[in-house]
This record gives sequence, C-alpha cells and structure tokens, in this order.
Amino acid sequence: MIDVAFLGAHIRPADTAVVIDVLRATSTITMALASGYERVLVAGSLDAATVLRADGRVLAGEVRCARAPGFDLGNSPEETLEPRGAELVLATTNGAPAIVGSAAVAGEVLAASMLNLAAVAALIDDGDTLIVCAGTDGRVSIEDVYLAGRLSALLEGPRTDAAQVAEAVAAAYPTALAALEASGGAVGLRREGLEADIAFCAQESIVDVVPRLTRTVDGIAILEVAADRALNP
Ligand code: MLT
Repeated sequence: MIDVAFLGAHIRPADTAVVIDVLRATSTITMALASGYERVLVAGSLDAATVLRADGRVLAGEVRCARAPGFDLGNSPEETLEPRGAELVLATTNGAPAIVGSAAVAGEVLAASMLNLAAVAALIDDGDTLIVCAGTDGRVSIEDVYLAGRLSALLEGPRTDAAQVAEAVAAAYPTALAALEASGGAVGLRREGLEADIAFCAQESIVDVVPRLTRTVDGIAILEVAADRALNP
C-alpha cells in the first residue's frame, strides 16, 4: 500500500517511511552523501546539533532558511558538494524533525528529493510505504506534495486516497521547477537571497544515492548511503 502523510505531524508506523523536504533538507542530505560525507547526523533541534560538534564533523542548519548562528553551513545542498569532514550534522525546522519522527516509528526510513527520485523509486519494495511530506511550519507545502505524487506514480501497488491526491497535484505542474517556484518554501528562500537553491533542488534524478536510516542514537537519526541497492553501485 502506498500512502502519503501531507505533514510531519501525520507520521504513523509503516514498513517504510520515505521522508520528503524538497526545499531543502532532504535535498541537502542527498547531496551531502553523494558528495562524499560518510553519514549525516540528523538532529531534531539546533541545540541537539550543537552538542554534537567534534573534530571531523561539520554543522549545518537553518533558521528561517538562513544559516543558524555559529553553524558552519546553512541548508543549501550546494554547500555540501565539497565535504569539509567525514560527518555532516544537520538541524532544520521541518525536514529534520520529520526524519527523527519517522525514525521512531517506521521499520525503514529513506530520504527522497527530486535529485534522487529514480533511485528512491527503485529501492522501495512491496509493503506499507508511507511517503512523509515535511511541510512548512505545520502547513502543507506544494513542493513536497509534488514529489510525493511523482514518487507514488512510479511505484507499484494499491494507493490510498492521499496518494491519489498527491499524484493529481503532481500532474497539475508541467515541471518540477514550476511546482517548486509556486511554493511557500520558495518565498522564504528568495527572501534570504537563496533562490539558486530552488533550481538546484528541482533537478531530477541527477544522483543515484539514497540516504537510509542506519540507526538512531540518543534521538539523532543517522543516515548513510543505501549502497547495496543503488542503481549504479
Ligand atoms: C526545513 O527543514 O524547514 C527546510 O529544509 C527549510 C530550509 O529550506 O532551509
């Protein structure tokens, strides 16, 4: 069964949770692992990320889309293209809590973005799959629902009404960029002068890397490359 949670608050137990925060947390996690970070430590808050500071770790995080005070990086995927350490610690407003919340209840957790759409679809088995849209500050976001619909349409099996709604939303936009440009998340990025991230995050299936939860330690969700089933391992 393919189901969609339109908000992180609607996370429920499932065999597989596929978390989406197109703008920008899951795009950043995808690019970090594709660029050579060994793992991404996803923290549910800036405070939880700050205490993880250590040699070999790079702290990334945002507040209202801007780089969090004292952090090494913001939440732009392009900032991760040249790794500065082995591990990226990431704390964001919506995407990171959705990953941590999914990690607490789902058998398997994957992170999806436009950047790895085909690879994620290829990795999902039969079973109860919940596509989790992080949303923006408790509100449904177009870009996450768009990708949820695109992903749902690539999967085999029965769909819930929510999955069919997401597919209908996806079909309403001619391109990923059109969906992302129309979103409230894009407004925040433009406000901070980060509009280049919108086009970057709209690129489709440019990497084969799928971030997968390997373990949770003290509430930190640790994601690594699901290399065993990547398209081009
Ligand atoms: C979030 O998790 O709220 C987003 O990734 C915000 C952002 O674009 O930085």
